Amino acid sequence: MPSPSATAESLLAFWADAGVDAMLLDEPVDRIAAGRLAPPLPAARKAAVAAPAASPGRPAQPDVSGVVAQARELAAAAQDLEALAAAIAAFDGCPLKFEGSASQAVFSRGDPAAPVMVIGEGPGADEDRQGAPFVGRAGQMLDKMFAAAGLTDRVFITNTVFWRPPGNRTPTPGEQAVCAPFVERAIALVKPQMLLLVGGASAKAMLKKDEGILSLRGRWLEWRSADGALELPALPTLHPAFLLRQPAAKKKAWADLLTLTERLDRPERPQ
Ligand code: URA
Repeated sequence: MPSPSATAESLLAFWADAGVDAMLLDEPVDRIAAGRLAPPLPAARKAAVAAPAASPGRPAQPDVSGVVAQARELAAAAQDLEALAAAIAAFDGCPLKFEGSASQAVFSRGDPAAPVMVIGEGPGADEDRQGAPFVGRAGQMLDKMFAAAGLTDRVFITNTVFWRPPGNRTPTPGEQAVCAPFVERAIALVKPQMLLLVGGASAKAMLKKDEGILSLRGRWLEWRSADGALELPALPTLHPAFLLRQPAAKKKAWADLLTLTERLDRPERPQ
């Protein structure tokens, strides 16, 4: 029979994999009043969240195709990262912008010509306050790991969504889908050599995979843009928020960073 600590560890890993990395919200929520007093939705958000009925065995997925098309058009028009940041801030198609937790759009930090693009899940409370990704406790741990691996000035950091999800919940596939054209445009503008996908929600969305992060991590996989024009090697790894709760998993994340730097620093073979 497994020991109680092994059982607890595997339960924590299961939760983290499912995106549960916070047990409490920042503020108490009166769900009954919230349901009664739901504010009217802006038109763009209504379109983004209108969901067809679920069928047996398949949960309802919002039809986001119109909003995705709008995001794609706005993203394509952005000729540099500054214009892209402005386009994201002005975009009203992501429901998270109106959920009440986000005070601003959080786009990126790091070297705009970095060889590695780091893509996390979504901003938390600290990121929302400061307007930059991975600046809270999890981000500080990520920075320490990057420093130890010699990656500090070699990364450009963003997320799959640009507004803080309420209670730091995992962004939904619909929310990630409407932000994806902006993420793709960021990749096209930065032109990194490789992607580091941080956390299960990032790895699954970017790679269109259903497997959990514990099985995806540490393996080179292929990321492809929606139109197939761009392809890059992508390495999924554990989320630093998970490492803060499960320090024993740090060695796996460290091994992933070494896998990344080995490829990054591999000498080019002569043709
Ligand atoms: N977690 C993320 O995935 N991204 C951030 O920017 C911060 C915490």
